[in-house]
Amino acid sequence: MPKLIVVTREGEEREVEGETGLSVMEVIRDNGFDELLALCGGCCSCATCHVHVDPEFADKLPPMSEDENDLLDSSADRNATSRLSCQIQFGPALDGLKVTIAAED
Ligand code: FES
Repeated sequence: MPKLIVVTREGEEREVEGETGLSVMEVIRDNGFDELLALCGGCCSCATCHVHVDPEFADKLPPMSEDENDLLDSSADRNATSRLSCQIQFGPALDGLKVTIAAED
């Protein structure tokens, strides 16, 4: 299974395996990182699944929708690497992707 590297808010890094077809948010939550709240369950309406994505993978990510962009604007921790992890489908193309859980708003 493709690997995802998750960095917590405390800077702890852990490599986990992710099932193809799940969202990055689901892979993170399924592996017990409960600091990623993902309150809306992946409906792109809460922004509590905000992560910072390794820029090396920027061209492999799906384009950002207007809704995702608007939601990210509500976060004080937004920067050029920000994405909502529920909007990124995981799979072999993203093997080795590193994401850092964004600060809580
Ligand atoms: S889980 Fe709510 S926007 Fe991603």
